[in-house]
Amino acid sequence: MAIERTLSIIKPDATRRNITGLITARLEAAGLRSIAQRRFFMTRQQAEKFYAVHAERAFFDDLCDFMASGPVLVQVLEGENAIARNREVMGATNPANADEGTIRKEFGESIEANSAHGSDSPENAAIEIAFFFSELDIVG
Ligand code: RTP
Ligand code: MG
Repeated sequence: MAIERTLSIIKPDATRRNITGLITARLEAAGLRSIAQRRFFMTRQQAEKFYAVHAERAFFDDLCDFMASGPVLVQVLEGENAIARNREVMGATNPANADEGTIRKEFGESIEANSAHGSDSPENAAIEIAFFFSELDIVG
């Protein structure tokens, strides 16, 4: 297994409920280290660019509205197998289908407001990290 970096976003449903610390604690307990953090209001335009891969999906407009509906906490996570590990700890996209003990099972409100994002491949992790952070922001 290799040490990887991945991009995590704690989504507006979670910042609204003041549970960014609870969620980050789950990530840390899973062996992931937060090596860059930024809390900010994503614009609709940034959300559209970030989720461009989903532009043709029926849920795209709603998803972009949701991601721009409140602050997000964007973090770079580092650790062994970080990309898969993060997605494992997050659980299935739809909280109703997520395993017990996962972030989305515990905290997700709906298939859209599912509290967390995680990169899905090494290629996308590199693209997504560069979308929000410069190398100078990342302190491993
Ligand atoms: P993410 O990208 O946020 O880590 O989530 P994911 O890989 O598990 O899911 P993905 O298919 O990439 O979808 C991105 C986000 O879009 C919202 N979504 N809504 N209404 C719907 O049917 C629907 N499906 C997906 C979720 O916020 C999902 O995380
Ligand atoms: Mg995805």
